[in-house]
Amino acid sequence: CEWKEGRAPKQRLLVVANRLPVSAVRKGEDSWQLEMSVGGLVSALLGVKEFDARWIGWAGVNVPDSVGQKALTKALAEKRCIPVFLDEEIVHQYYNGYCNNILWPLFHYLGLPQEDRLATTRSFQSQFDAYKKANQMFADVVHKHYLDGDVVWCHDYHLMFLPKCLKEHNNKMKVGWFLHTPFPSSEIHRTLPSRSELLRSVLAADLVGFHTYDYARHFVSACTRILGLEGTPEGVEDQGKLTRVAAFPIGIDSDRFIRALELPQVQEHMKELKERFAGRKVMLGVDRLDMIKGIPQKILAFEKFLEENLKWRDKVVLLQIAVPTRTDVPEYQKLTSQVHEIVGRINGRFGTLTAVPIHHLDRSLDFHALCALYAVTDVALVTSLRDGMNLVSYEFVACQASKKGVLILSEFAGAAQSLGAGAILVNPWNVTEVAASIGYALNMPADEREKRHHHNFMHVTTHTSQEWAATFVSELNDTIVEAQLRTRQ
Ligand code: G6P
Repeated sequence: CEWKEGRAPKQRLLVVANRLPVSAVRKGEDSWQLEMSVGGLVSALLGVKEFDARWIGWAGVNVPDSVGQKALTKALAEKRCIPVFLDEEIVHQYYNGYCNNILWPLFHYLGLPQEDRLATTRSFQSQFDAYKKANQMFADVVHKHYLDGDVVWCHDYHLMFLPKCLKEHNNKMKVGWFLHTPFPSSEIHRTLPSRSELLRSVLAADLVGFHTYDYARHFVSACTRILGLEGTPEGVEDQGKLTRVAAFPIGIDSDRFIRALELPQVQEHMKELKERFAGRKVMLGVDRLDMIKGIPQKILAFEKFLEENLKWRDKVVLLQIAVPTRTDVPEYQKLTSQVHEIVGRINGRFGTLTAVPIHHLDRSLDFHALCALYAVTDVALVTSLRDGMNLVSYEFVACQASKKGVLILSEFAGAAQSLGAGAILVNPWNVTEVAASIGYALNMPADEREKRHHHNFMHVTTHTSQEWAATFVSELNDTIVEAQLRTRQ
């Protein structure tokens, strides 16, 4: 534990996630360049002041040699990060295979892979074996660094097997597990060949958390229907052992976005964007280039809007930032070509010599450019087919204090449950409805925009990522204390 002068030591928190919040680039045999990414989880944990947090995860690079591993471990230690080294074959079977080709689509209601069913069935077992093996490798690193009294917080669908690996080794360890995606209806989960083994592994945790009450309810029903266990208002009970299950909706570090808008470089970006798109309303989409984000559906809805609203054709532009992701998975490669094809067709159809209706970027933007873009946007389009929460909608709201733009939000994003009253909710599969909502948003009177924005802004600035993390960790601590009391009774 870390001692601060005159104070009690802080309790240590080991955060275990598939990916470390650091990108590592090798510069020589034993030298690495590291860049911290301040994503949602990192800023959330910065807010958990009463804990001394460390991060355990995969560095996202293959480092086969021990010299490189040693040097990277040392460099990461300065960032309070501890690497798990996964070789290429494991990454292929565990990350590209079981995590992103099986669990990810299934949890987002896209089903198990359809093509070449026999091949999928044959490779399923080897991918699941690699998944378990990878989870055990994460567990081994946790065991190596664990000290009595630490709290271990496991994250996401990559690590559903981890709570079991940890508890089998040390039953006294305080283990929490949080899912950042939806947990689907039990009718979907039961199609998964490894359905029971995964549920039982997660139940080894002391506290299991989800973004929404619905996901938590689906998980409890899966445990009752598939495993025959008892669901209680607190969670799931198995032979006297209670696993607490609850909803903990995540948020963002809203102050970071609000403060950024005052920076000269952000103001400069805003000025450039306003000049560039003068006389046109700006619509914005920011997504990872992922099937669940509904990018083709969104663009088709925009096309329908242009088709039906002649007067808007040269007065509106859609900026779509599509950040490439999981590019080794074939489904993602197909999606990229599909999106490019649709964008090209629509720009060909509605573009002029001086302007095109869609600007599509296959890359991420730096934080300051992104804040500026959010701030100058008139209408944000978040049309995920399913989404655990969707923090882009929160980031947009945080940056709109002066413009009070409109958020069009999929009813299938977790955020619909918190921002539903301020946003225009849509069914992303219904292109006609989304096109009509675009028209409604662009024509919305200022007082209605203001009212809607106020509702969402209040939510985003009061339900922050820091509060989310602090609530989960303190509940995890309480869960253990309660369990100890129960055992003593
Ligand atoms: C989702 C998952 C995260 C994951 C992120 C980026 O938000 O819930 O766990 O880190 O996508 O995906 P990647 O595969 O690049 O880590």
